[in-house]
Amino acid sequence: MSRFAQPQDDAFRALNASIGFDWRLGPYDVAQSRAHVRMLAERGIVTGEDRDTLLSALDDVERELDEGRFPFREDDEDVHMAIERRVTEIAGPAGGRLHTARSRNDQVATDVAMFVRAHALQARERLEALMATLADLAERHLDWPMPGYTHLQRAQPVYVSHHLLAYFWMFDRDRERFGDVLRGADRLPLGAGALAGVNFATDRRALAAELGFSAVAENSIDAVSNRDFVLDFLAAAATCATHLSRLGAEVVLWSSEEFGFCEVSDAFASGSSIMPQKKNPDAAELLRAKAPRIAGHLVALHGVLHGLPLTYNKDMQEDKEHLFDAADTLELCLVAARGMLEGIALRRERLAAASGDEFLAATDVADLLVRKGVPFRESHGVVAGLVRSALESGRSLSALSREELAAHHPALDDDFYAVLGEGAWLESKVSEGGTALVRVREQLELARSRLP
Ligand code: ARG
Repeated sequence: MSRFAQPQDDAFRALNASIGFDWRLGPYDVAQSRAHVRMLAERGIVTGEDRDTLLSALDDVERELDEGRFPFREDDEDVHMAIERRVTEIAGPAGGRLHTARSRNDQVATDVAMFVRAHALQARERLEALMATLADLAERHLDWPMPGYTHLQRAQPVYVSHHLLAYFWMFDRDRERFGDVLRGADRLPLGAGALAGVNFATDRRALAAELGFSAVAENSIDAVSNRDFVLDFLAAAATCATHLSRLGAEVVLWSSEEFGFCEVSDAFASGSSIMPQKKNPDAAELLRAKAPRIAGHLVALHGVLHGLPLTYNKDMQEDKEHLFDAADTLELCLVAARGMLEGIALRRERLAAASGDEFLAATDVADLLVRKGVPFRESHGVVAGLVRSALESGRSLSALSREELAAHHPALDDDFYAVLGEGAWLESKVSEGGTALVRVREQLELARSRLP
């Protein structure tokens, strides 16, 4: 019997069905159904015989899903109904007992939480691999000077290792964020039923233990309404993708002849269909471009959930495509970023030439005067005057004469020329977290200790 006298309209069916994408939840749905059936038998809600029949049918379904031969049907609305339908085909009447003491509302929340947990772990693993690659790359370019930038203007020289390790710490924070995602998704929704709990004395704690959750959701209404863990995952993914986009953007800039700081390997570049000389850093460009897509998924889900009355609403079916695409996109980007960095060739001469620009020592000259007792604000002005004189006469700072220096400030003596000596402006940055080699070595060691 059905409550409905009319068949579903085709347009409604197409709008309503989620099987086209939620089939990906199949393995989680099978795992939670197994746990559910065992618990039902344990509590005497189904017989041991029915349990065995159902478990064996679930094994078959798992194999069919695995091998890509699960017989989906035109009228399967979603993965939960498809699996229950198939279990019943295989198990016979016992199949009709699978959905005892369960609703699709607690079921789907549980599948999605399991998906989020699995993919947060996956993101963490891939982040760790990328972080290890960054640490290796930093070690190989430990004492290579390069210009550091603000406003994309050369600012102060730093070591390439120091610059690369900046990304290491961004990704370390991302890894922490995915750890928080795991913690936020560790309450089991299953057992909440449609919204109010179920009419059987189920054992939710046993379910939680079997499915790897550390506790059960405290409130059945919250349990079926909650998608915070999806928002958390999308937020962590969006921030991580933003970090990857900054890395990508730098590699794009650095690959241009104008910078000439690096060349990506052929394995991560493509040519032009018309210009035979071109080698384009497409991987880096796409890393740059994927971030807004993931941030868009986060914004979209906030839009879906905001203002929704409790409890489950069909709107919530819209969580999945955003989640799946964000997970797929991020996982691919993390692997590609790692591969791109593993094969990248940095160009020592170009980096050194750009960092040898003496104007990058302007702060160091100002600090020289500070050490001689001049207040920093005043010395800043004195050095600005020196820079201006040099620029106006088309010379470098060290080409200014003793007399010119003295005219700018009486405390400017031969130490001025010593400060401009090579390397001095990097090795003087000895503050904790600074670019002096001792500090970078210390930092690299700290970074290594963060890796498994
Ligand atoms: N396909 C649905 C979703 O993804 C499953 C839950 C349906 N629940 C319901 N009461 N119609 O949200």
